[in-house]
Amino acid sequence: MDYAISVHDLTKVFGSFTAVDRLSLNIKPGEICGFLGPNGAGKTTAIRMLCGILTPTSGFGQILGYDLIKESEKIKPHIGYMSQKFSLYDDLTVEENLSFYAGLYSLPNSERKNRIKEMITMAQLTSREDEVVANLSGGWKQRLALGCAIIGRPSIVFLDEPTSGVSPTSRRDFFTIIQKLANQGTTVIVTTHFMDEAERCNRIAFISAGQLLAMDTPDNLKQSAVEGFMVELDLPQAIDQIDRIEQQLYVRECSLHGPLLHVLLDNESNVKELEELVGKSARPITPTLEDVFIALAKKKRKQVVR
Ligand SMILES: Nc1ncnc2c1ncn2[C@@H]1O[C@H](COP(=O)(O)OP(=O)(O)OP(=O)(O)O)[C@@H](O)[C@H]1O
Ligand SMILES: [Mg+2]
Repeated sequence: MDYAISVHDLTKVFGSFTAVDRLSLNIKPGEICGFLGPNGAGKTTAIRMLCGILTPTSGFGQILGYDLIKESEKIKPHIGYMSQKFSLYDDLTVEENLSFYAGLYSLPNSERKNRIKEMITMAQLTSREDEVVANLSGGWKQRLALGCAIIGRPSIVFLDEPTSGVSPTSRRDFFTIIQKLANQGTTVIVTTHFMDEAERCNRIAFISAGQLLAMDTPDNLKQSAVEGFMVELDLPQAIDQIDRIEQQLYVRECSLHGPLLHVLLDNESNVKELEELVGKSARPITPTLEDVFIALAKKKRKQVVR
């Protein structure tokens, strides 16, 4: 099996609205693939189709070698899913939640105890086994939810915004766990709105208005996904100048990054014009992942408006 996930032209239409539009993906075993895109882009819908929870309107493919449409029941035991609103039982303890999911994934009795213990260690919940979930803070809950999703040793785990609402340290710990999982061969699909997390993925699939606009490594995206010439300006009160800069015909995009302004120009020959406009020198830079994200989302919006 070359690919853990190989799908072609997956499409989901709700009424007259196309939520996912001809999505094609090939993802290798052990890869961490990040799904990025604006709210409503179709990330969750795509994941639910890849899990076999939602039947595609059209398209075809294989998950772990099984036919996505005809064999969705065979796929389910091999995948773990942590949904956007992850489902833990608040009135049950840590251990009871894990035990419940061990049952759901039909783990043999002989393995259950050990596996629950492993998940408690992985989620750094040792000594909290008997704590009721309602009393746990966000980061703990989130690691427990991951434990519940992977207790059945899935070959692929789908994590839908697993780190929203938790602190930066918890987010970092969580991603380290994900990277360990991937090193052991688990394929990970993770949606996120955080650029630091996207940087830690092997490849990023950028989805907007239901379509896959780009799929590549973070480095390749930064090198080639943005059309134009990016410069950085150190401008005091940049916020007051953005409108004026954006109005220039040769300026494609303008965004503030702390005290620095990133300006995407049509090409290198526009640097001089920009410098004359603002009375400051401009440094050429490689776009950040955030620049890539903004440029791709904007490009798509323009296409939709047309
Ligand atoms: N069951 C449904 N019926 C009708 N429309 C739906 C249904 N599920 C999703 N949609 C629509 O499909 C679009 C894509 O939704 P989806 O939840 O996949 O986006 P998303 O990329 O996960 O967004 P977010 O970043 O906010 O989680 C949205 O416009 C949503 O309203
Ligand atoms: Mg979503």
